[in-house]
Amino acid sequence: EIIQGDGLLLLPAFVDLHAHLREPGQEYKEDIASGLAAAAAGGFAHVCAMPNTRPVNDTRSITEAMIARARAIGGPALHPIGAITMGQKGAELTEMADLKDAGAVAVSDDGRCVTSSSVMRRALEYAKTFDLTIIQHAEDHALTDGAQMHEGAISTRLGLRGWPRVAEDIIVARDVLLAEATGARYHVAHISSLGAVRILREAKARGIAVTAEVTPHHLTLTDAAVLGYDTACKVNPPLREQADVDALREALADGTIDAVATDHAPHSTLEKDCEFAEASPGLIGLELVVPVLLDLVRQGALPLGRLVDALTRAPARIARLEAPTIKAGARAELCLVDPNLSFVLDPARLRSKSKNTPFLGRQLTGRVKMTLASGRVVFVDGEGAAT
Ligand code: DOR
Ligand code: ZN
Ligand code: ZN
Repeated sequence: EIIQGDGLLLLPAFVDLHAHLREPGQEYKEDIASGLAAAAAGGFAHVCAMPNTRPVNDTRSITEAMIARARAIGGPALHPIGAITMGQKGAELTEMADLKDAGAVAVSDDGRCVTSSSVMRRALEYAKTFDLTIIQHAEDHALTDGAQMHEGAISTRLGLRGWPRVAEDIIVARDVLLAEATGARYHVAHISSLGAVRILREAKARGIAVTAEVTPHHLTLTDAAVLGYDTACKVNPPLREQADVDALREALADGTIDAVATDHAPHSTLEKDCEFAEASPGLIGLELVVPVLLDLVRQGALPLGRLVDALTRAPARIARLEAPTIKAGARAELCLVDPNLSFVLDPARLRSKSKNTPFLGRQLTGRVKMTLASGRVVFVDGEGAAT
C-alpha cells in the first residue's frame, strides 16, 4: 500500500481518532473549517472530533450540526465523538443510541471529566449494546490535583507540582478490568506511561477488547522540553521520561499500541503566553504528523508500514470507518508525501487558527504535498521549494 516513485511516497490518507476542533463555542481557538483545513494539510481524510465543545456534544442535534457544517465545507470527513455523560459532568449517561444514529463514531468524556468506576461500568455496558467504543482519558484526579507536568526530577527542579505515572496506570488498569467484566470495547486515549503500556500488553495477551492510541508528541518529546517553563509543552497527559518514550515506541512498533492520534488541542496565544500554572494544556498536531513521525522511521525506531497502518487501517477499525486504501476502483483517499523535503516550521504556514506547538522554528523533514479525501483533492502544497 506504499507506492514509491520520483522521490515521493503515495500513501492512503490518514484517519485521526482524536482531535479537538472547538466548534461549537470556542471558535477563537479553532473552528471546523480551520481544523479540517489543517487536517487536509496534514494528510488526513477523516477526523474524529472530541465532544468537549461548548456546549458539550451530548445530543443528536449537536452531532448532526457538526456533520452538516463539515459537509458544507467539503474537506476531510468529520466524525463526531459523543460525550459519555451529559455535559461531561460524570453523572447521567448520554442517549448513546441517538448519538450513534446521528453519526457519532465513539463516545468519550476526554477533556472534561474523570468518570467514576460506577459510571464507567454502566457506560461500558450501555455502549456495548450499540457496539460503540468508549475512548477515555486515563487520569486519577485524586493524584493529579494541581499538577502542571510529569512528576520527576525536572518538575522538582522547576518547582512545579507533578502528575505521577501511576495516576494514569491506575485508571487504565481499572478500565481494562471493567472492559473485561462487561465485554465492552475500551480504547485508551493518548497512552503516555510505561506502566500503562505494560497493562495494555497484558490485557491484549488475555484477549480483552482493549485498543490504544499514542500521540506524536509523547513519542518524541520528554519532560526535559518543559525546562525554561515552555508552555507549548504543557499538555495533559504530560510529556514523560525517556523510558516512557522508549516503551511507547516499542509498543507502537510491535502493534500493542494500535494507532497514532494527534490530540490536536488548539489554544490561543493568550492562553499560552502566560505563567506556566495559568497556561491551557494541549498542543496542535494535525499538520505535523508526517515530519515528526518520519523522523522515527529514519531513526529505525518504527517501520514505515507500521506507521502507515497506525494512521489508516488501525484507527479506521476502532472508529468503525472504512479505511482509506490505494486500490483501483476505490474512492480516492490518499496523500502524496515528500519524505526528504526539509523546512523550518513557520507559524504563518499553519492552517490551524492556533499556533501552539513546540516545533515552531524547528528544522523538520518530510512534507505532505497533496491530499485527496472522498475522491476530491482537498489540499495541494502551494510552495514547491523549501521555506
Ligand atoms: O492537553 C489536553 N488538552 N488534554 C486534554 O485532555 C484536553 C485537551 C484540550 O481540550 O485542550
Ligand atoms: Zn485527554
Ligand atoms: Zn484530547
